[in-house]
Amino acid sequence: VRVVAGRGGLLAVQVDVPACRGEVYLHGGHVTSWSPLGREVLWLSRDAVFKPGTAIRGGVPICFPWFAGGPDGGLAPAHGFARTTEWALVGATTDGQWVELILALTDSEQTRAQWPHSFAVDYRVRMGEDELALLFTVTNTGDAPFTFEEALHSYFAVEDIRSTEVDGLEGASYLDMVPGADRGPHVLDGPITFTGETDRTFQSTGATAVIRRGPRSVTVARDGSSSAIVWNPWVDKAAAMADFGDDEWTGMVCVETANVKADAVTLEPGATHTMTAYITI
Ligand code: BG6
Repeated sequence: VRVVAGRGGLLAVQVDVPACRGEVYLHGGHVTSWSPLGREVLWLSRDAVFKPGTAIRGGVPICFPWFAGGPDGGLAPAHGFARTTEWALVGATTDGQWVELILALTDSEQTRAQWPHSFAVDYRVRMGEDELALLFTVTNTGDAPFTFEEALHSYFAVEDIRSTEVDGLEGASYLDMVPGADRGPHVLDGPITFTGETDRTFQSTGATAVIRRGPRSVTVARDGSSSAIVWNPWVDKAAAMADFGDDEWTGMVCVETANVKADAVTLEPGATHTMTAYITI
């Protein structure tokens, strides 16, 4: 486990143990790679931009303290400031198989200008041979309650989105966030398949999702998370994003571990909340 100057000169923690290789940028507290047994599980755009102030396209961006424009819309930057802020590395341990990295983000003059609250986030990234566990703990260090949204916006590599299925969320209620679509709420009546731009926010469900992506599948189990977002931009939206290769939409899907909209979390002073994603192959 070592800290290097990564792409764009940004600091990155590189993990290389017998069980897996991986990479976490301090910029955004952003996991960009988890490669157990030589096979990458996450997706990263070839056009991803590595520079201060910009979110990295792919891996696991952290959306905090709001998602999109916030529960009522209108907040900037989109998906909050955590994914564009430099995090601190406060610990790294390994037994040669497992590696645990501990990252931290606390409020600063800059964050308070965007969101007037005192907070501490402890983010633990545990990687091994068959699991990537992401433990995201928020503490209210101020003297008044606050409400926040959060998402571990994980991008997964798939062989072909057109033959990928996401199972496990059947029966859950979701909002269809594709522009122009009937927003719902709808109830999912079968596995999710992909035939066009897909942007669904599942609410009030802790169900485990399974991404069937050809010969292998990836499971996303969640604790302390009542929302899940499933996203693929398809042709036009991919083409409209400068940091997303035009033809890359076929090779990815986002299945996000989150608490957004009606599932936003309120913390009293001194209180703590942990959301965990357990990603297994
Ligand atoms: C998803 C949202 O989680 O993130 C989409 O549901 C959004 O609506 C996507 O387009 C990417 O967002 P961004 O800000 O990283 O381009």
